[in-house]
Amino acid sequence: MAYRIHLETLDIDFICQANQNVLECLISSGKKGIQVGCRGGGCGVCRVEVVDGEYCARPMSKAHIDDQSIGNRQVLACCIKPKSDLSLKVLGKIASSIKRKYQL
Ligand code: FES
Repeated sequence: MAYRIHLETLDIDFICQANQNVLECLISSGKKGIQVGCRGGGCGVCRVEVVDGEYCARPMSKAHIDDQSIGNRQVLACCIKPKSDLSLKVLGKIASSIKRKYQL
């Protein structure tokens, strides 16, 4: 099953398979200039806010995502997989690389 991921920062959509994490899908969408960190939940570069939609998450480092962040639906894109279409805002260092690349 595949879901549509809307990235509010760039106003773009990309497709993510249910068995892929959101960061993998964003990178494979072909958008250049996406800063890639550890891809394993350790660096916090890929922090996003899930504005809309459902997801499943694997455990994330408390150094980057504390309980309050989880309550605010702020997660690491490399640690979540979609369970529905999602709408995201980028928050971590990935946001500055995207804004710089696309002059937002
Ligand atoms: S890429 Fe490092 S936490 Fe996601």
